[in-house]
Amino acid sequence: MGFIIAVDGPAASGKGTIAVRLGALYGYPVLDSGLLYRAVGMKVLAEGGDLSDEAAATAAARSLEPAELEGPVVRTRAAGEAASRVAIYTPVRAVLRDFQRAFAAQEPGAVIDGRDIGTVIAPHAPAKLYVTASAEARAERRWKQLVSQGEAVTYEEILVDIRTRDARDAARADSPMVAAPDAVLLDTTEMTIDAAFDAARRIVETARSRWETAKG
Ligand code: C5P
Repeated sequence: MGFIIAVDGPAASGKGTIAVRLGALYGYPVLDSGLLYRAVGMKVLAEGGDLSDEAAATAAARSLEPAELEGPVVRTRAAGEAASRVAIYTPVRAVLRDFQRAFAAQEPGAVIDGRDIGTVIAPHAPAKLYVTASAEARAERRWKQLVSQGEAVTYEEILVDIRTRDARDAARADSPMVAAPDAVLLDTTEMTIDAAFDAARRIVETARSRWETAKG
């Protein structure tokens, strides 16, 4: 098994940036698993379907193409909302799980960020982080990001989005958003992204030494 780094946590906690920087540090491929759910949700909508239609969402997941993970559409506010609506369906999660597990199995290692990487996708991952921050701090970051992408939204609207999405992700029956018992918690509320990455890097280095010792 390669050195899998699982980076879980709620929306806009900083986990995506941390995952990308860890990937660059170790030279590992990085998967933003949220993009998979975002692409499925937007595909359902683009095909004129309904997010409450489990069969349509499952068909969209089965026929997902790599190109559909690219571009600005999957980064929009609407895509985040659509993603959490289709993420409640067990068959959708099952289709996407196989892809994520294959990605995680790459040698010499891989980084995946998401909600259930340390609990469901790669429970055996040697390094697990659970990155969090207050809802207010996350809403502010996401709001700034969306405004810089040209979306006309208010901070208050994004705070409501974040709270709604947190509640939906935590309450779903299949693979709810929860820290793995062996994940190291990293609260980035008061941290710059550089400080958060530095803390993450130290946590992963400790896990790496342990993993190397165990390998012998
Ligand atoms: O991380 P991001 O905000 O892009 O994720 C969008 C949505 O996709 C989440 O709110 C969650 O509902 C879903 N998701 C998931 N499992 C993952 C990654 C994302 O259920 N591993």
